[in-house]
Amino acid sequence: MSTTVTTSLSVTAAGLSFQSPLLNASGTFNAPLFNQLYPLQEIMGGIVTKTVTQNPQAGNMQPRTTELPGIGMLNSIGLQNPGLAYTLETEIPELKALGLPVILSISANSSGEFAQMTETILSHPHASLIDALELNLSCPNVAKGGIHFGSATDSVKEALSAVTRICPKPVFAKLTPNVSDIVSIGAAAIEGGAAGLTAINTVLGVAIDIHKKKPIMPRVSAGYSGPGIKPIALHAIWNLHKHFPETPIIGVGGIGNAQDVLEFLMAGATLVQVGTICFRQPTIFKTIQTDLQEFCRTENLNSLHELIGCAHT
Ligand SMILES: Cc1cc2nc3c(=O)[nH]c(=O)nc-3n(C[C@H](O)[C@H](O)[C@H](O)COP(=O)(O)O)c2cc1C
Repeated sequence: MSTTVTTSLSVTAAGLSFQSPLLNASGTFNAPLFNQLYPLQEIMGGIVTKTVTQNPQAGNMQPRTTELPGIGMLNSIGLQNPGLAYTLETEIPELKALGLPVILSISANSSGEFAQMTETILSHPHASLIDALELNLSCPNVAKGGIHFGSATDSVKEALSAVTRICPKPVFAKLTPNVSDIVSIGAAAIEGGAAGLTAINTVLGVAIDIHKKKPIMPRVSAGYSGPGIKPIALHAIWNLHKHFPETPIIGVGGIGNAQDVLEFLMAGATLVQVGTICFRQPTIFKTIQTDLQEFCRTENLNSLHELIGCAHT
C-alpha cells in the first residue's frame, strides 16, 4: 500500500509561524462569509483585515469598481470602513475565532495619527488577538494620506518609526508601485523598523466610457488590480528581495493560481496575498493549496523555504 506524503506548506516570517503562505489581500475578502463555503483554518495561513482608519469613513461616490475583462478591475472604494473602535471591538474577535493569525491593516494621514491608532490598538482588551499590523501607505483612492504618504521616504520612515517605537508586534509596510523607486521606499520602511514589506498595492489606472466620452471612474484615476499587474508586482518583489534579502516580503498583485504563487516565492516573497480573483472564485485558496502541495510532492521539497528567492541564484 502506498502512502502519500504531504509537504507542509508552513512558513515563518517576522517571528510568526504560518501554516501556509496564503493570505487574503486587504479589502477583497469577507473571511467570516467565505468560512461558510470552506474551512479557512485548513487552508489559509492568516487573515488580513480591510484597512481601517481612526474614524469611520463612508468611501467614495459610485461607481466604485469597473471590470476590465480579462485583465482585472479598477476600484476606487476610498477606504470605506467602520473605524478603529468598531473593528477592534467586533471584527477582530470574529476573525480570530477562525483560528488563524490576524493582521490588522491600518491607514492614517500623519505619523502622529499612526502613533495614536497604535496606542488605541495596544490598550484595547482585544489587542492580544492581533498578530501583526500592516500599514497601508499606498491607497490610491483617498485625497489625504494613502499613496501621497507612501511616496516619500521621509514620511514612510516617520510613519514606521511612530508605530514600531511603541508596538511590540511585527509591523509590515504595504508599498505602492506608483513610485519611481520602490526600493528606496522599502529601505525607508526598514529603517523605520518594519519587520516586513508587503508589495504591491494597486497600480494607478484610467478607463474611458467611449459612449459618454468620459472617464468611467468619478475620480478619473483608480486602483488597477488583477492578472495584468502580476509582472509589475514580481518586478517590485524581485528588486526588494535583491536589496533586502533578510526582510520578509508579502507578495501581492494578480495572483490567480499556484503557478503565480510559486513565481512570487521564487522572486523572493515568503508569504502571498490573493485579492481580485476572490471576487470571482472565493474558493480559489483550496485549489491553490492542492496544486502547491502537488508541486512540492513532484519536486521532493521538504519546505517552501527552499523556494524563497531561489530564482535569484
Ligand atoms: C475592491 C478592492 C479593495 C481594496 N481595498 C484595500 C484596502 O482596504 N487596503 C489595502 O491595503 N489594499 C486594498 N486593496 C488592494 C489589494 O489588497 C491588493 O493590494 C491589490 O488588489 C493587488 O492584488 P490583486 O491583484 O490580487 O487584487 C483593494 C483592492 C480591491 C480590488
